Amino acid sequence: MERYNIAIDGPSAAGKSTISKCLAKKLDMTHLDTGAMYRCLALKAIRLHISQQDEEALLDCLKKTGILLKGEQVFMDGEDVSQAIRNPEVSSAASNVSKWAKVRQEMVARQQVLAKEKGFIMDGRDIGTVVLPDAKLKIFLVASVEARAQRRFLEDKLKNPSLTLEEVRRSIAERDRQDETRLASPLVQAKDAKRIDCSDMSIEEVVDKVCSYL
Ligand code: DC
Repeated sequence: MERYNIAIDGPSAAGKSTISKCLAKKLDMTHLDTGAMYRCLALKAIRLHISQQDEEALLDCLKKTGILLKGEQVFMDGEDVSQAIRNPEVSSAASNVSKWAKVRQEMVARQQVLAKEKGFIMDGRDIGTVVLPDAKLKIFLVASVEARAQRRFLEDKLKNPSLTLEEVRRSIAERDRQDETRLASPLVQAKDAKRIDCSDMSIEEVVDKVCSYL
C-alpha cells in the first residue's frame, strides 16, 4: 500500500486538530499536532520564567526539552501535559515563542524526522510550506473569526464559566495577527494547497471534502 503524508494548515481554532484526528482514524494514519510542540515550549518557558522575547534562551530551553506526541497525549520531559498546554495563557505564549526563527528551525527538524516514515497527518501553520513541502495532499483550512470564536467559546466555556464570546473573539484575532505577520514562516497558504472554508460545514462534510482530493 502506498504510504504518504497529508499537511493540514490554517489559523487558530479552524478545526485542524479535530479534522486531522477524524481523517487519521478513517485513513488509518497517525495524527501529529505540531502546535502541541510549540505549546510545550511555551509551558516550559512560563514555568521557568524564561522571557518569550529571548530567542537564544528559548532555543537553549527547547534543546533540553523532550517532547513526545503519543496518540493524542503530549509528554514534556516525561510528564503528561496534554491538559496543561491547552490553557489560554499557554495559547498566547505559544504564539509568542513560535515567532522565533531558531525555535522554528529546531521544531521543523524534529517534525521532519517524525514524518520520515510517512503515513502522517500533520497539522500546524507551516506544514505544507516548510515542514512537508512534498506532502501528497495539502489542505488550508479556514473559517470566519466569528465561526471559530463560537466553536472555541462552546468548548472553553465548560472549563471557564466566566469566559465571554468577545474575549475568545479578541484572542483568536490577536493570534491570527501574530501568526500571519511574523517574519519567520508566517501563516500562508501553500501554492499547491486546497483551501476549504469550513465556516458552515460539519466535521463529516470537511472530512469527505478532504478525502475527495485523495
Ligand atoms: O495549533 P495551535 O493553536 O495549538 O498552535 C499554537 C501556536 O503555535 C499558534 O499560535 C501558532 C504556532 N504554531 C506554529 O507557528 N507552527 C506550527 N506548525 C504549529 C503551531
